[in-house]
Amino acid sequence: MDLSQRVIYQIYPRSFQDSNKDGIGDLPGIIKRLDYLKELGIDMIWLSPFYPSPQNDNGYDVSNYLEIDPMFGNMNDFDCLVAEAQTRGIDLMLDMVFNHTSIEHEWFRKALAGDPKYQDFYYLRSLKEDGSLPTNWESKFGGPAWAQFGETDLYYLHLYDKTQADLNWYNPRVRKELHEIVKFWMKKGVKGFRFDVLNVIGKSEVLIDSPEPGSKEEKALYTDTPIVHEWIKELNQATFGQDQDFVTVGEMSSTSVPSGILYTNPCQNQLSMIFSFHHLKVDYENGEKWSNPPFDFIELKRILNEWQQGMSDGNGWNALFLNNHDQPRANSRFGDPENYPFETASMLAQTIHFLRGTPYVYQGEEIGMSNPNFESIEQYHDVETHNYYHIMKEKGYTKNKIMAIIQAKSRDNSRTPIQWDRSQNAGFSKVEPWINVADNYLQVNVEDELKKGKIFRYYQKIIELRKNNELIQKGHYRGLMLDDPNFMVYVRESKNSKKLLVVSHFYEADCEFRMPEEFTHCKATKLIGNGKLSNIYEGQETLIFGPYETVAYLFE
Ligand code: GLC
Ligand code: CA
Repeated sequence: MDLSQRVIYQIYPRSFQDSNKDGIGDLPGIIKRLDYLKELGIDMIWLSPFYPSPQNDNGYDVSNYLEIDPMFGNMNDFDCLVAEAQTRGIDLMLDMVFNHTSIEHEWFRKALAGDPKYQDFYYLRSLKEDGSLPTNWESKFGGPAWAQFGETDLYYLHLYDKTQADLNWYNPRVRKELHEIVKFWMKKGVKGFRFDVLNVIGKSEVLIDSPEPGSKEEKALYTDTPIVHEWIKELNQATFGQDQDFVTVGEMSSTSVPSGILYTNPCQNQLSMIFSFHHLKVDYENGEKWSNPPFDFIELKRILNEWQQGMSDGNGWNALFLNNHDQPRANSRFGDPENYPFETASMLAQTIHFLRGTPYVYQGEEIGMSNPNFESIEQYHDVETHNYYHIMKEKGYTKNKIMAIIQAKSRDNSRTPIQWDRSQNAGFSKVEPWINVADNYLQVNVEDELKKGKIFRYYQKIIELRKNNELIQKGHYRGLMLDDPNFMVYVRESKNSKKLLVVSHFYEADCEFRMPEEFTHCKATKLIGNGKLSNIYEGQETLIFGPYETVAYLFE
C-alpha cells in the first residue's frame, strides 16, 4: 500500500484492554478488539513497547528486545495477534527503543560485572578533575544526565530516566545487535517500526559541557548530528530497506525541517517519515513544558505550515498527529471537549488528516476521550510527572498551581484506560486498573459512541476519504491566511487544477469567513464538514462558521 494512503492507529498496550484480570492491558486484549479497529478503517497498528522491562518508564526501558513481558502475554499471543490482524488487512508496527536500554538489560548487567566488551556498549566516563560530573547535561526527565556506574568511579550517560542508559552507537557491535533485533521481528511478520528518540543516538564524539544545562546549545551536542544519518542508512540497508512497502517512522526530538528532509526523502534511504514536535509546544511558556498558558494559535499554524511547506518542497514526508502516549489529549488542549465534544474532535481530526503526510490516530481519540483532570498526585504514575512535581515544589510553586500544570501537561493524560462501555472500570478490566479510569466514562465510551455518537463515524469518513481521494494523498500543500486569528486554512492542489480547500474554525463564537479571492469565481461541492455549511455558489464571498466548525470544499 502506498504510504500516502495509510492511516496508522497507536495502541498503548497497558491501557487498551485487559483480558486476564490483572488491571493491565495485554496482547490477548488487543486481539479481542481488532474488529473494532477494522471498522474504524485503519490499516496499521503501532504498538508501544511490550518487551520485558522493569517498567520504570512504562516499557520504554527495555531489558530484553526479543521477548514479550509476561505482563502483556507471550510469544504465542504475539504470533496470534500478527495473524489475526493480517486477516483483517491490518499490519503491525513495533516500537524500537534503541537510544538506551534498561539498566536491567543483560548488556548493562555484564558491563556492571566488569566485562569490557559490554562496558563499551554504553557511555561510561570519569568525573572531571574538579570532581564534577563528566558533563553538565540535563536529563530530559529532570536532574543530571549522569548516574554512578555501580560502585565504581565511573558514571553512565542517561538522557532520559536514570534506569535508561544510553547506548554507544559508535561501537559497531552495538549497531550489529540492534540490526539483529530488527530482523528478528521482521521474520515474525512485522511490517513497520517506530524508532524511539532516534535523532539523539549520535552524541558528539567528545562529550563537552554546554553553556547552560538543558539549553538549546546543549541539545545541539547530541541531536541530529551528521553521523545519525549514516547509522540510519546502515540500519535501513541491513534490514527493512529491501522491502518497498515497509513503513518506518523516527521519533525526532527538537529536530528541524532540513534534517526532516534528509531523514525522509526517498533518495536518502533512511526512513519513511518522522514525528516532529514543535507544533505541540505552542502552549509552553518561554519554551517550558511545565507551565499552562493558553495555546498560541498563530504559532501553531506557523509551525504546521513551515513543516508542510518545507517537507513538501524537499520531498520529505511527515507523520501527522496531535496525540500520542506522551501528550495531553488534543481536544482538551486545543478545544472544548466538555461543551463541544463532537465539534472539537472532528475539527482537529480533519485539520490534521487532510494535510500532506501519514495520519496517526491515538487510542481513544476516535471517541473523544479527554484529559482526566486527576486531583491528587498519587493518581499520576508517570516518572516524568513525579520528577517535575518535585522540581516545581522546589521552585516554590503553590500546590494548586502545580496540580493545574500537571492536569494540563502530564503524559498520563493520554494513558488512562480506554473507555469501552458503561460497566465497572469502563469495560477495560474486571479489576481495578493500574491507573484510574477518567470520570467521564459514562458519557464517553465506545459502546455508546458506536450506537449514537458522531465522532467515530466522522473518523471513519475521513479515513475512508484518504483511501480514495488523490488530492488528500498526493496533493501539493499551500497554506493560506496564516495571520488570521480564527481559522486555519490550507489548499491541497494538483496539476490538473483540482483543489481541496480546508477551513477549520478553532474557536467557539460564530465567525465570518471571507473566501480568498482565488476561490470566489468558482462553485464548489462540500466534500465533508462537521456543521451546517453546505455547497457554495459561484461568487460567494462569505461563510459563517459555527463553534469549532470545519469544512473541506472541492473545486473542480
Ligand atoms: C520517547 C517515548 C517516551 C519515552 C522516551 C524515552 O519519547 O515516546 O514515552 O519516555 O522516548 O524512551
Ligand atoms: Ca492483563
